[in-house]
Amino acid sequence: MTGGGSSLPEVQALLRVLAAGRDVAELGTAFGEGAAAMADTARSVVTVERDPERARVARARLAGLANVELLEGDWREALAGRGRFDLVFADGGTYDWEAILRLVKPGALIVKDDLTPGRPTDGDPVREFLLRDPRLAAVEVLTTPAAAAIVAVKR
Ligand SMILES: C[S@@+](CC[C@H](N)C(=O)[O-])C[C@H]1O[C@@H](n2cnc3c(N)ncnc32)[C@H](O)[C@@H]1O
Repeated sequence: MTGGGSSLPEVQALLRVLAAGRDVAELGTAFGEGAAAMADTARSVVTVERDPERARVARARLAGLANVELLEGDWREALAGRGRFDLVFADGGTYDWEAILRLVKPGALIVKDDLTPGRPTDGDPVREFLLRDPRLAAVEVLTTPAAAAIVAVKR
């Protein structure tokens, strides 16, 4: 996705593949583009947006998708006690990785996009956690020539 909340088609394609058959949580709905892509193949999608205006737009976009639940608020509160999920798309700005790990089952995927390719892992808290935490195995992939994502699996 991008900082403005519109997701790249290439990222939507990746999410559509990774979400297939899974129970998904999305942290940061924005306008619902990523949620709609995942809902195309997922068993279920719970998506959380804290900005009321963005949530309103997303609710209209996602209306009629029977496997999508849109929650309004901070995901850390909205998803407390929910789960555990087979995939978390961590797209909500700030990352509480321990809370995210608690949301997922062993074997579940954690996806983080909107990375700049070629940056060092050292000093990058997102890469340091996802690529080096021993509870995960992870790979960084290009989604376009100028954008990257990390797909991690919880061991
Ligand atoms: C990059 S956009 C999400 C794009 C969306 N996932 C997609 O693929 O179309 C990030 C969104 O996360 C929301 N956000 C940031 N922190 C959040 C939080 N703690 N809980 C819920 N939403 C949050 C922002 O308001 C923003 O709309």
